[in-house]
Amino acid sequence: MKTRRKFGRREFFKTTGGALSFFAMGKHVSSAIADAAEDSPRPIKRDPAQMKRLLDEMDARGYQFWSVPRKDGEFLHLLVKATCAKNVLELGTSHGFSAIWMGLALEETGGRLTTIEIDRERYDLARRHVSDAGVSQRVTLIKGDAHGEVAKLQGPFDFVFLDADKEGQVDYFNKLYPKKLVPGGILVVHNAIRQASSMKDYLEMIRKHPDFDTVTLSVTMDDGFCLSYRHRAS
Ligand SMILES: C[S@@+](CC[C@H](N)C(=O)[O-])C[C@H]1O[C@@H](n2cnc3c(N)ncnc32)[C@H](O)[C@@H]1O
Repeated sequence: MKTRRKFGRREFFKTTGGALSFFAMGKHVSSAIADAAEDSPRPIKRDPAQMKRLLDEMDARGYQFWSVPRKDGEFLHLLVKATCAKNVLELGTSHGFSAIWMGLALEETGGRLTTIEIDRERYDLARRHVSDAGVSQRVTLIKGDAHGEVAKLQGPFDFVFLDADKEGQVDYFNKLYPKKLVPGGILVVHNAIRQASSMKDYLEMIRKHPDFDTVTLSVTMDDGFCLSYRHRAS
């Protein structure tokens, strides 16, 4: 269950230090945007008021569905765009809040999201929300246990958001790296501050992994992300 606690400004700056380097990651931004134009389904016409209502309603029920806070959704949205991600994987869909934020960003990059949820009710709800948001053509939802489903996916992915069972991070990492995460790819883990103890093994491993640059950062000044960049020469 996600709970919210404020932490100090000094801790915030310590954990965010270096995060900006992710935005200077040497991705070939202009060519990716050109590629995206080729891969863009017809632009979706949305009613802004209806979209706002949907996101507001989902955000208001975020506690019930353990979804990321809105600011973290906005951050994922920005990060997908800034890294020009094309092939995104999310583990832990819940009701689809983060999937919608990333799906909307993928309209700009011309990419696709695959997202996996073990719970039937949340999976069904996420399908409906993704459809209501008009991002169905960007998002493939899979109902199943991500530990098994990841092994079946071909990939490779250039952006992975790990937000399912926190104790499973090392297993997910071992199933994704090296073959299913491209060099230059990003691994994003949520709850890396508040639930750090549940994924201690993962955080220790990734922070000293020679093929990754890793930072912890918080957008909400509450919980936060562990962000890892896989070196291109790895
Ligand atoms: C923190 S919530 C995900 C929130 C979602 N990413 C969002 O921000 O809208 C975690 C979700 O992972 C799902 N989950 C837990 N273990 C899983 C597994 N082994 N495979 C797939 N989903 C799992 C839970 O049912 C829950 O809906």
